[in-house]
Amino acid sequence: MQKLIIHGGKPLKGIINISGAKNAVLPIMAASILTDKLHITNVPKLTDVNTMKELLRSHGADIEIIEHSDEFELIINAANINNFTADYEIVRKMRASIWVLGPLLSRYGKAKVSLPGGCAIGARQVDLHIAVLKAMGATIEIEDGYINASINGRLKGTHFVFDKISVGATINAVLAAVLADGETVLFNCAREPEIIDLCRCLNKMGANILGIGTSEIKIIGKDSLNNTSYKVLSDRIEAGTYMFAAAITKGDIKICGIDYHIIENIALKLMETGVKVMPIDNGVQVTYVGKLHAVDLETNPYPGFATDLQAQFMSLMALSSGVSMITENIFENRFMHVPELCRMGADITVKGNKAVVRGVESLKGAEVMASDLRASVSLILAGLSTNSETVLHRIYHLDRGFQNLEKKLNNCGASIKRI
Ligand code: UD1
Repeated sequence: MQKLIIHGGKPLKGIINISGAKNAVLPIMAASILTDKLHITNVPKLTDVNTMKELLRSHGADIEIIEHSDEFELIINAANINNFTADYEIVRKMRASIWVLGPLLSRYGKAKVSLPGGCAIGARQVDLHIAVLKAMGATIEIEDGYINASINGRLKGTHFVFDKISVGATINAVLAAVLADGETVLFNCAREPEIIDLCRCLNKMGANILGIGTSEIKIIGKDSLNNTSYKVLSDRIEAGTYMFAAAITKGDIKICGIDYHIIENIALKLMETGVKVMPIDNGVQVTYVGKLHAVDLETNPYPGFATDLQAQFMSLMALSSGVSMITENIFENRFMHVPELCRMGADITVKGNKAVVRGVESLKGAEVMASDLRASVSLILAGLSTNSETVLHRIYHLDRGFQNLEKKLNNCGASIKRI
């Protein structure tokens, strides 16, 4: 199994270009089922993208891949979908597989998708995905670990209130409603930039979605959608991670290829710690200026602070001058990085969904284990801050969501080796 050897202690300096967003490209790939041909550019080279390709191919889609040095272009031809089952063997690798449920059901009237189950960070229900599709008239049974969905004719437009803000369920609902008969209004929707990106792509395909980026999305269903091409948004979680890398290594990094507007909430939180954050043309510059104050943090749906950046922010706070309280409001078990950070010398106590982080002078290298995607990168940040060697195991998590991470950081002076 591969591992990373990290030698820290150097302030990182340089430029990092941000790749396409994992959390935008996956639903956009699922949206390809809604038309015959979708050409997607700025696709990041990630194992999750490969898993989605595998899933779409298993349904009968034909995918042409044009490879560039730092991105893929995908031309997905879904005119001949002939298998409506998303098999457990694929779905278990990636929860985002659930996003084929809405499109298969709404274009073909049937879909059978393995239940994704829980994962390391929490139980992660799918009840809202099912409830909204039922409200559109679908018959849904859970049988032998599969969601078995069907509809006689077309899904029907509906009015639906999400009990809880869910990124995943908002996406499935929008993907289903664009081909439903009539008007759908979704209340209490998630407002993440990646959902905005999906809606823009769908509108470019001919859908009629209003209220994009608000909590009330209105969709006027169409009989069919067109072929189009679409460039995926850049990854704000990747950008935020490198912003924290600059701060934790006392460095100075220009992070390019990202719209400042979608990372402003991250920038504002980082500024509170005393780190200098400046919007620049096409990105942001983060410079350590000799201070790292402890600040409290709560994760919340966008525009709140992303749960996907909580672990990385905790690594930073482990080195702050004070005590920080970090509250995780999205997932009940998303503190798996804490014992590993403590092995590196951090002083963190967890009680329920709160972690009290008492800043220490320095961390020290250790052998540590990645437990999930974002936790793995928080340990790399911690390793980069130390004057010693850190060995990170189970890095397959990392490759799900960070393209060329070693190369991007090593170009700024880091020393990270994969063996
Ligand atoms: C969540 C995050 C997203 C992040 C992703 C991967 C939020 C709101 N969502 O998206 O930013 O990129 O994890 O880490 O920050 N829930 C239900 N029933 C459902 C669906 C969800 O109870 O049918 C609950 C979940 O268990 C969770 C919360 O709602 O506690 C938010 O879930 P959701 O946004 O759907 O999760 P993801 O789409 O995985």
